Amino acid sequence: MNPILQIENLNKHFTLHEQGVQIPSCCGVNLTATTGELTALVGPTGAGKSSVLKCVYRTYLPSSGSMLFTQADGTAIDLSNASESEMLHLRERDIGFVTQFLHCLPRKAAVDIVAAPLVRQGESIVNARDKARELLNTLNVPERLWNVPPATFSGGEKQRVNLARGLIAKPRLLLLDEPTASLDPHTTDRVVDLLNSIKQQGVAMLAIFHHPALVDRLADQVVELAMARHTLELHA
Ligand SMILES: Nc1ncnc2c1ncn2[C@@H]1O[C@H](COP(=O)(O)OP(=O)(O)OP(=O)(O)O)[C@@H](O)[C@H]1O
Ligand SMILES: [Mg+2]
Repeated sequence: MNPILQIENLNKHFTLHEQGVQIPSCCGVNLTATTGELTALVGPTGAGKSSVLKCVYRTYLPSSGSMLFTQADGTAIDLSNASESEMLHLRERDIGFVTQFLHCLPRKAAVDIVAAPLVRQGESIVNARDKARELLNTLNVPERLWNVPPATFSGGEKQRVNLARGLIAKPRLLLLDEPTASLDPHTTDRVVDLLNSIKQQGVAMLAIFHHPALVDRLADQVVELAMARHTLELHA
């Protein structure tokens, strides 16, 4: 099967002008993500795993390399030089990102936070909320919390709301950054089941897992990132 995402020689560094240094954040990364498969990114802390996901979602602008993404109509777009409006469009329908932490509006109820991606795609609020409740239930979020804003939720509860929001709209490519880091074993099992069923529905995933056991359970491909080399001194 053809990859939906093909990354070649991706590099990202940050220039800290005040200190006169360049900090590498990921270096020489090659990988593919394929429909219905999960590619796991592994490597030591600081190797640039999160940075790769942020480059794909274009939270970070890559320094060099290419990230060819196959769109729904079959045409390819290089995410490393796609325009902001092209990226906004892709984030709405094609590329989802479950980040490590939940960032959301403080007064919005959990059910509406989860429903929001579907509403943005044109689904009615009633249907979107029904699907959101179903997913919150699958992920073991207690019903008493569904209409409460997640600001005061525990770390694991917030993480489940975050996951539900990322999974509800079934993007074609799903980026996951340690989605189960603060979940108990029972809820982790539910997430594994959910990710497997999403995989079977043809979603491609690029994921980072805290526990190596999850890589064994879920990954079809494993890509190891080497530790980035030294900080570069900039010359005046
Ligand atoms: N916005 C940024 N500004 C400066 N340096 C950054 C930035 N983002 C990442 N880095 C640097 O890039 C390197 C890789 O960071 P990244 O978060 O991608 O690592 P990681 O492999 O996800 O680590 P962990 O396993 O701890 O989550 C680190 O040295 C980090 O300090
Ligand atoms: Mg990280």
